[in-house]
Order: sequence, then structure tokens, then C-alpha cells
Amino acid sequence: MRTYKIAAIPADGIGPEVIDAGSEVLSVLAQRAGDVRFDMTWFDWGSAYYKKNGVMMPEDGLEQLKPFDAIYFGAVGAPDVPDHITLWGLRLPICQGFDQYANVRPTKIIPGVTSPLRNVGVGDLDWVIVRENSEGEYSGHGGRAHRGMPEEVGTEVAIFTRVGVTRIMRYAFKLAQSRPRKFLTVVTKSNAQRFGMVMWDEIAAEVAQEFPDVTWDKMLVDAMTVRMVKNPQSLDTIVATNLHADILSDLAGALAGSLGVAPTANIDPERRFPSMFEPIHGSAFDITGKGIANPVATFWTASQMLDHLGEHDASARLMRAVEKVCADGILTPDVGGNATTKEVTEAVCDAIRGDNA
Ligand SMILES: NC(=O)c1ccc[n+]([C@@H]2O[C@H](COP(=O)([O-])OP(=O)(O)OC[C@H]3O[C@@H](n4cnc5c(N)ncnc54)[C@H](O)[C@@H]3O)[C@@H](O)[C@H]2O)c1
Repeated sequence: MRTYKIAAIPADGIGPEVIDAGSEVLSVLAQRAGDVRFDMTWFDWGSAYYKKNGVMMPEDGLEQLKPFDAIYFGAVGAPDVPDHITLWGLRLPICQGFDQYANVRPTKIIPGVTSPLRNVGVGDLDWVIVRENSEGEYSGHGGRAHRGMPEEVGTEVAIFTRVGVTRIMRYAFKLAQSRPRKFLTVVTKSNAQRFGMVMWDEIAAEVAQEFPDVTWDKMLVDAMTVRMVKNPQSLDTIVATNLHADILSDLAGALAGSLGVAPTANIDPERRFPSMFEPIHGSAFDITGKGIANPVATFWTASQMLDHLGEHDASARLMRAVEKVCADGILTPDVGGNATTKEVTEAVCDAIRGDNA
């Protein structure tokens, strides 16, 4: 029996609804496989914890998480707590503290889900966006001075280091190499940003030499939005900075049908620390408690987690089940259906039990 220790942090809003669904699916996958176990430990960290204790997680939070094989994360964000407190209090300290520098965001059109793009269907949009996850525009450098005065100033400094850029480029080229098209698009803004972004381009060209079998091209981030919408078939693997990929991947999720189907993995490729798996979406105040949150992104990120743990059969079985259920039209309202979170989850569990591959 292979046992994996998973830290579940559902946190806020629809986070607990989708992580509950994901945990149910993981336990059915374990029963179906027979030789694997997921040992879940639940953490009540998040905005409710903050209101009680003044912090989003305890001071030794990272120490508590270190022994786990992976972290399964819901979402942070509450209407009555500022967003920079929730994000910098829980999610970002985990990503940065565990040096999860590769943020991997696959997007494709799942059978049964309709893209808002005309004449774009299954197979036309099949991307993986690699987001630099440790520095860039979200490095936390900057400050405020003369608060409240007319001359008040706020700075937000984007940091690009040779080490940070080289390692994310290498990760992205390697990932592109592992996909059938062996094609990478490097997103940049070096026309307007002459320092960090020019270095980003130079390092991309250097790392490209290590991967002669990977074809690559370069896009300015503004033009990239147009290409994603007008010519989705022309893209495959994509690498971009922390901010650029944050924005582009929300667009990617929407083009694939809904944010509710878009997953993400925060990976420490060197495996020094646990990696963290979560849906891209936030806590979605507008639908919290209604029982209609789409759990597909949370299932898909569980499949990424299983691949990271080396459980490739279980990962593939989970994705087959998700695709079957969506193709059968069992969909939540964000993707045009009228099923509840529970109904989709039960259908996916049944599909796992009935999967004969
Ligand atoms: N990783 C994170 O924890 C994360 C990411 C983004 C936003 N946030 C936080 O979440 C809060 C709400 O932010 P927002 O409204 O900008 O983004 P959001 O992702 O929570 O919601 C955007 C829209 O998408 C819909 N949506 C999102 N997930 C869905 C799902 N699974 N099923 C169906 N519909 C879904 C929502 O109903 C909403 O209309 C804020 O506090 C924000 O800071 C957190």
C-alpha cells in the first residue's frame, strides 16, 4: 500500500465546497485502485481563522506543512478582509516559503463544455501556461512613504534574477519538449520594460540552445491576448512572468469555458518541499453556499497532484471520469448546465468506479 500525506487547506468561500468534493473523489480513486491511500489532514486556516487570531495561519504554519507529500488548497478571500491580507497571509507565504517557483496551468476545452469563441472546440485550444511563481512583479519589493499626505508615494518593484529566470525557462522548455508539438511561446514586454524584460528575453534565447528540438517564438503580452482569442490553435506551451501569466491564465480559463474548470499546480521541481495544488479561481462570494460551485478545476488539480506523486494511472482515470461526466452533460451553471456540485461529484465518483481502462 502506497500512502500519501495530504494537507487540505480549504480556506474561504467556495474553497471548502470544492475541496470537500475533491477529497471525496480522491477517496473513491483510492478504493478503486486498492493499493494507494490518501491520508488527509485538515487545516482550518483562512479568513475565519484570521478574524479569531489576527493571522491567516499560525506562525509555524510552514513547519506544520513541511512533512506532507502535497498540499490541496481551496481559495482565499473574504468580503470583509482586505485581499492583500488574505493573499499575503496564506497562499503567497506557502508558494514563496516552499520555493514553488513553477506554476503550471493547463487549459483545454473539455468535451461537453462550450468555449465562448466561435468555431473553437475540443482539440483547438490545448495549452499549458507556465507562470514564474517566485519573483517578478509579485516579489513583495516596494513600499509606501508619506502616507495620507499629498506627496504620498507607493512603489511596487518587479525583481528578475538570472537564477529565477533561467530556472523557469528551463522548466518551460522541458515541459514543451515533453508535449507532442514541442513548441513554446515566451511572453514578454521588452519593448516597454528595458531591463528585467530584456534580460528575460536574453535568457530565453540562451536556454533555448539546450533544447534544439523545441521550436519557440516570442510574443508581447498585449499581442498575446489577441493571439489567444483569434488563433488559439497556434499555441501550445507558454511561459510568462508572475503578473503576465496571472492575467493570461484567467483569460485562458474563460476561453476554455469557465474559471471553474481551470486548475493550477505550484511546483517545487527540486522536491525539497511539498508542492501545492489548487483551482485557479478565488473564493467566489457571489455563489458561496449555493451548492453550485464547479468542482472540475479542483478535480483537475487533483489529477496534477497525482501525476506529481507518480500516481499516473489514478491521474488518468480521474481525468477520464471528469471528461465523461462533462460529455454526458452533467454540468454546473457556469458552464451552461443545471447540476449541483454534489451531483457532478457523485457522477465523477460513479465514473471512476465504472472505469475499466
Ligand atoms: N488563489 C486564490 O485563492 C484566489 C484567486 C483569485 C481570487 N481570489 C480572491 O477571491 C475573492 C473573489 O475574487 P474574484 O471574484 O475576483 O474571483 P473569483 O475567481 O472568486 O470569481 C470570479 C467569477 O468566477 C466565478 N467562479 C469562480 N470559480 C467558480 C467555480 N468553481 N464555479 C463556478 N463559478 C466560479 C465566480 O462566481 C465569479 O463570478 C477575492 O477576495 C480575491 O482576492 C483568491
